Amino acid sequence: MRPLVFAGNWKMHLGPEGARGFLTRYLAGHEPVQGREVWFFAPAVSVAAVAAQVAGRADLRAGIQNVHWEAKGAFTGETSVAMAREAGATATLVGHSERRHVFGETDQETGLKVRAALAGGLIPMLCVGETLAEREAGATLAVVRRQLDVLAGLDAAELGRMRIAYEPVWAIGTGKNATPEDAAEVHGAIRGRLGELGAPADRVSILYGGSVKPDNAAALVAETEIDGVLVGGASLDPESWRAIVRADRD
Ligand code: 13P
Repeated sequence: MRPLVFAGNWKMHLGPEGARGFLTRYLAGHEPVQGREVWFFAPAVSVAAVAAQVAGRADLRAGIQNVHWEAKGAFTGETSVAMAREAGATATLVGHSERRHVFGETDQETGLKVRAALAGGLIPMLCVGETLAEREAGATLAVVRRQLDVLAGLDAAELGRMRIAYEPVWAIGTGKNATPEDAAEVHGAIRGRLGELGAPADRVSILYGGSVKPDNAAALVAETEIDGVLVGGASLDPESWRAIVRADRD
């Protein structure tokens, strides 16, 4: 019912030339699979290169890693939703933990970005997740609920266009990942909260991210609550990415 989404977050890797080279190698062996989608969250300067190569392939999507909420103006270094669309993006990450913890992005700002993306026709993938200190304090579900509160006030149709990525901060780039069971428990709580907020929660894909590799992807997507993976490091090598995209769900 919900598609499995395999999303690569390239972070600050792969400029236009690198993106073209990666996709040429990856797509040479890519075969569409019913019910599976493959998304690429590229740096802003590489979105057009990605969009050109995924054009016409219904199972592939070009995305951007961040947008500003204003339509235009004196915001040096920022990218508007319309500009991202013009470059060919159809989705954007919002509130990635590096945006929150390295660049100080607030819940208020993630809320504005979600609304701007929805209004401008980009699918927002809102990233949520707790730090190690928050997990150890038993605050995981409270933190995730607070991060989801930015969705309050959106209508059911808007909420139905959201995607959520649960990425525990302590699992990102560390080689540690939540067990599939632990992740599935948080995913279930996220889905419950989405329902409380008025979303058609059964239809909203919730991805897991944090040290996903070819050897743990299958166990993660085997959980029915886990609708795909958001992958940093292991999405940068065409072969490891292919292995993740092919992860068996059984
Ligand atoms: P890693 O897969 O490198 O841990 O990064 C996860 C992530 O932040 C994806 O958005």
